[in-house]
Amino acid sequence: MSHTPTILVFDSGLGGLTVFREIIRVRPLANYVYVADDAYFPYGQHTEDEIIARVVPLIGELITAHRPDLVVIACNTASTLVMAHLREAYTVPFVGTVPAIKPACASSKTKRVSVLGTKGTVKREYTKALIRDFAQGCDVTLVGAENLASLAEAALKGENISDEAIAAEISPCFLNGDARTDTVVLACTHYPLLNDRLSALAPWSVDWIDPAPAIARRVNDLLGASNSGTHSSPAQFIFTSGQEPSPILAKALQPFFGARLVA
Ligand code: DGL
Repeated sequence: MSHTPTILVFDSGLGGLTVFREIIRVRPLANYVYVADDAYFPYGQHTEDEIIARVVPLIGELITAHRPDLVVIACNTASTLVMAHLREAYTVPFVGTVPAIKPACASSKTKRVSVLGTKGTVKREYTKALIRDFAQGCDVTLVGAENLASLAEAALKGENISDEAIAAEISPCFLNGDARTDTVVLACTHYPLLNDRLSALAPWSVDWIDPAPAIARRVNDLLGASNSGTHSSPAQFIFTSGQEPSPILAKALQPFFGARLVA
């Protein structure tokens, strides 16, 4: 690709930033637009039909407005539903984010893996098919967290979130019978926002599988060779509600954008 590509990263909210920061790390030479559909957050509380009806036309509007070379749907709750619809409707290449069940099951020693996602993601036929195809003899437990994405957003916005609230959401992941769970798939892009607290609150140590680095490599491969050098154009951050980030949030966002300014 000879021109500087534009990459649009989309999520229901701020969770997609955990994917965004990996992409910007491997592909600094690009123009970036991050869109948080805060007007419809959280997607985990919407029905499948509602999410398809919301996301497919909205992505069309964003493609028209920003002319991206590639769109990343940095949301498991949406990706497990809308990727085929998007690819049918638009010619831009898409990269989705779906539960990393295959690598988790390949690396589990105890053969006991939990998938922590939104209520929507763990209900999806797509997720169940991943388990049928890639469990590799593992016992896989699906855990639908009611509020963990909202708690992660609140924590990023500087609110005080209690240990009890987080522990209650993750405790069903930890099974201790004939074998102990040793691997937990972070099947929602919001959850890595809480990485340190998840590790601290786990009843025992597990591998937390975050697919963001693999997604970033995929984006980079799809875009092809990069021009050398660095790029300093500001990244755009957009809330679909039209609101501006508060000063606390603006400060919290900056590390996800590396050295780049946020416009
Ligand atoms: N970040 C989204 C995901 O990866 C979900 C959060 C929500 O419920 O909107 O699933």
